[in-house]
Amino acid sequence: MLAKTPRGTSDILPPDSSLWQYIEEQLREIFRLHGYKEIRTPIFEETQLFERGIGEATDIVEKEMYTFEDRAERSLTLRPEGTAPVVRSYLQHKLYGEAQPIKVYYLGPMFRYERPQTGRSRQFHQYGAEALGTKDPAADAEMIAVPVELLRRLGLDDLEVEVNSIGCPECRGEYRTYLIEALSPKIDTLCGDCQRRLSRNPLRVLDCKNEACNQAKTDLKSIHDFLCGECYEHFEQVKAYLNLLDVTYTINPKLVRGFDYYTKTVFEILCHSLGAQAAVAGGGRYDGLIEECGGPSTPAVGFAAGMERLLLTLEERGWKPPIKDGIDVFVAGGLETRDAVVEIVFRLRGLGWQAEMDYNDRSLRAQMRAANRLNATWTLIAGERELAEGKVLVRHMAEGQQEEVPLDEIHNWLKQARLDSQGVKE
Ligand code: HAM
Repeated sequence: MLAKTPRGTSDILPPDSSLWQYIEEQLREIFRLHGYKEIRTPIFEETQLFERGIGEATDIVEKEMYTFEDRAERSLTLRPEGTAPVVRSYLQHKLYGEAQPIKVYYLGPMFRYERPQTGRSRQFHQYGAEALGTKDPAADAEMIAVPVELLRRLGLDDLEVEVNSIGCPECRGEYRTYLIEALSPKIDTLCGDCQRRLSRNPLRVLDCKNEACNQAKTDLKSIHDFLCGECYEHFEQVKAYLNLLDVTYTINPKLVRGFDYYTKTVFEILCHSLGAQAAVAGGGRYDGLIEECGGPSTPAVGFAAGMERLLLTLEERGWKPPIKDGIDVFVAGGLETRDAVVEIVFRLRGLGWQAEMDYNDRSLRAQMRAANRLNATWTLIAGERELAEGKVLVRHMAEGQQEEVPLDEIHNWLKQARLDSQGVKE
């Protein structure tokens, strides 16, 4: 069938689109308050950027990217995430030459070829932020506090925040060696994925949920036993800042996340009632990525969160947005007064009123029903007789009372009626 969205994608229709807009407005406000400016990068980038940035041995690069050749045989990839593009942009525009840190946020679609299920789609939407050019542990805490604050604003203050430190390449290198040595004798008991991961990306074995793998991991030492002095101290400070900011969190030494670029802090925000796709946000520090992409050595930290999972969580809890549902004015009339109706509607819209009319030659009765359906506060009835006298009939839909108002006074009349209904005296 032609008329169907591709697997793993969906339309966002009204009234849901109003919900999205409401949440996006809240997000923009939170980002503004915290000093983040919007960045918009292309939907596709050169494939290499993600291969290098995210890491060749990650699930995303190995099996989830939408990669294609364009007509000039360049390999391009629909962005699976926003961090690598932000780093590319930071380098391309030499933003490292400006006052640091550069604090940016983004909202938009991302693409991963995953098996679709509730909370997991192939085109999904992220909101996220990055602070480039700072190694301050307060920036790590901020990256956790910002999504927490947003969720709190939407009434979600009971979600679980998990944090961990996975160290720097040096101390993590020692831990990798340890993991390979400790798990190799048990390799046959690991799941197929982890057998492959053990040599290429052994830290990923840690967050595999497979029961057999869990058995093999029971006596493993924690990454925290391997952190070098600097990484240990950094993690202590991140935790202290989180305490200061009243962010409740748990430490999960097995949290490693699926990107190669992380150093030191990693974190996730979880809503367990979402089941397997519980992560509503995730992020961490990536002090090596900018250099890896060819720039000067620059520390950075960020987070991203899934809009669909946020909406699922809100929906599950019966949340309703405080959005005004309905229009100000419906202008009704007959075929003979059609021109006047169109003119009044456009004039009112120009004056800032949400005005609507009938587009299907409906009877006056049907137009009144349409006004009700649209939840109009007032209906203006432009009948032939009233118009001949330079007037329209204005009906308050909820209260039923109506009165004739001169055409050129409608705007002022509506303004006064609105003030009256709000109990404001002029
Ligand atoms: P991520 O954990 O891969 O991190 O994605 C962040 C969030 O996007 C997830 O917690 C989840 O809510 C949502 N998400 C991911 N995949 C899907 C999917 N297939 N369907 C629906 N939602 C999904 C990143 O992308 C990193 N770039 C975060 C970051 C920014 N780290 C540093 N800066």
